[in-house]
Amino acid sequence: MLKFSHIKQAEQSVDKEVTIAGWVHRKRQSGGVAFIIMRDSTGTMQIAVKKDKVDAASWKAVTDTTIESSIIAEGIVKEDKRAPTGFELEAANFSNTGISEPFPITEFQSTELLLDKRHLWLRSQKMTGILKARAYLFKYLRDFLSEKQFWEVTPPIITKAGGEGGADMFAIDFFGTKAYLTQSSQLYLEALVPVLEHVYDLVPSFRAEKSRTVKHLAEYWHLEVEAGYYSQEDNMKLQEDMIEYVCQRFVKEQGSLLQSLNVDANRLSVVKAPFKRLTYDEALKQLKQNGIKKEWLDDIGAEDEKVLTEKEEKPIFIYKWPLKIKAFYMREDPDNPEFALCSDMQAPHGHGEIVGSSERVYDYKEMADRLNKYGLQEKDYYWYTDIRKYGTIPHSGFGLGVERLLKWMLDLDHIRDAIPFPRMANRVEP
Ligand code: 4AD
Ligand code: MG
Repeated sequence: MLKFSHIKQAEQSVDKEVTIAGWVHRKRQSGGVAFIIMRDSTGTMQIAVKKDKVDAASWKAVTDTTIESSIIAEGIVKEDKRAPTGFELEAANFSNTGISEPFPITEFQSTELLLDKRHLWLRSQKMTGILKARAYLFKYLRDFLSEKQFWEVTPPIITKAGGEGGADMFAIDFFGTKAYLTQSSQLYLEALVPVLEHVYDLVPSFRAEKSRTVKHLAEYWHLEVEAGYYSQEDNMKLQEDMIEYVCQRFVKEQGSLLQSLNVDANRLSVVKAPFKRLTYDEALKQLKQNGIKKEWLDDIGAEDEKVLTEKEEKPIFIYKWPLKIKAFYMREDPDNPEFALCSDMQAPHGHGEIVGSSERVYDYKEMADRLNKYGLQEKDYYWYTDIRKYGTIPHSGFGLGVERLLKWMLDLDHIRDAIPFPRMANRVEP
């Protein structure tokens, strides 16, 4: 492997000789001088190549090079106010690793073209920045849960039964048996509670939803957490602490990245626990005041979430949902059996739902009764009900859509930009 300096390192090596490798971002050539703006994963640097300072092979290479060609340049780093980043490499040697064909992406391309050429569009500064933010987000979420002594576990992706309503599942032919891509790992995490007590996973979930909205992906990364002896109250507290932790760490450690993505750090620095709580009934009332008529037991949809969160600066919880419109596994409020012990977290500025959560039914008879009421076969859930038969304990958990969280944090217009290769109702390529 050849050893190169990254651009960020090279900036620390003024008046020293370095070799850098990257891709041509821009090129300008006149007479005997060529200026290349090269990018690598750490930034951009101007490279000046002068015909009378390099050998014939280097001069030919710079003459031949094109936008997005992969290049290697060796020379002395100079501080230069005229260069776009204040630094310039005075090249002594220049070579092409791979000459690029004319790059198909130029300025002002249609969204469709950029999605067809996604594999190339990812090289843009915007997408590079988002992918870095995404990597930090994964790290910070894991750091938080690890500090709280949660075990990271790995559930199966191929499953026999769903947790969130069968209609939205992708079916696959599993050696002649019908199986599905997982919608949620929750049920498996519950089985791991009697093993490791406090667990989480960060894996893809799949939803065969045809909805073409700015917040639905068919494949998204799902952070799910399950904790023994956690009440719904403990569960909500853990969620708000986690969101505060990642926002504050971004502000503290990723200021320049946020700036390069035009994200105002204040939008994240205000995010501190506790978060406002709105009951389902209060949410309906607030919607009514905004001219949106809702009946008791109506769901709160994407447009409603927008209205409810538009003026908020921090996430809010919507809790005390009617049991009847929630999932089969949610525990009823013993003081108020009409309601489920559950909550959704909604991101502010109109972004809407990012977390779904609840305390789980942990009594065997109650669970068997629930499956029955929801038209589910106990035999399909035999292992899930076994958890209730053999040493059951109260437990709660939540699921967070990582792309939804990133979309809000970076204020992206569309969830597809929060993931490198989005899978949506009308797109499975590249
Ligand atoms: O609200 P959901 O369906 O809840 C569950 O799956 C529970 N089993 C979670 C749990 O308690 N362990 O999904 C959880 C979150 C949503 O709040 C949303 O952020 C995200 O997953 N999500 C999606 N993200 C992108 N595209 C989609 N189609 C999504 N569907 C859900
Ligand atoms: Mg939900």
